[in-house]
Amino acid sequence: MVNWLKICDLSALPEDSSRGFCISTSAGLADIFLVRKSGEVRGYLNQCPHTGGPLDWVPDQFLDLDRRLIQCATHDALFRIDDGVCVAGPCAGQSLVAIDLKQEGNDVCMRDVVSEK
Ligand code: FES
Repeated sequence: MVNWLKICDLSALPEDSSRGFCISTSAGLADIFLVRKSGEVRGYLNQCPHTGGPLDWVPDQFLDLDRRLIQCATHDALFRIDDGVCVAGPCAGQSLVAIDLKQEGNDVCMRDVVSEK
């Protein structure tokens, strides 16, 4: 059985914004972030493929100045919002780890990581 965990209300994530969350899952705490762009919500682990460290050094700031790409604050790697692929920087070609999301009404939820067993 799939277990879905509520992350936040959709209304708490305005268009062109990003926000970080620490979610309690069956496998422990998950440090994740969400981005809302063109009406779509994407979610990734807050873990840069370059060093494994977090992408933000200011809370909830995961986007570049134009709000078109995800930006790592440590060495400025840039990632596409749609699929998390790094398009510039020291980890070019690598990807962020995507979170499986679904919306239920105003709720944004993530799949519990070990709920598929
Ligand atoms: S830690 Fe993200 S680019 Fe180096």
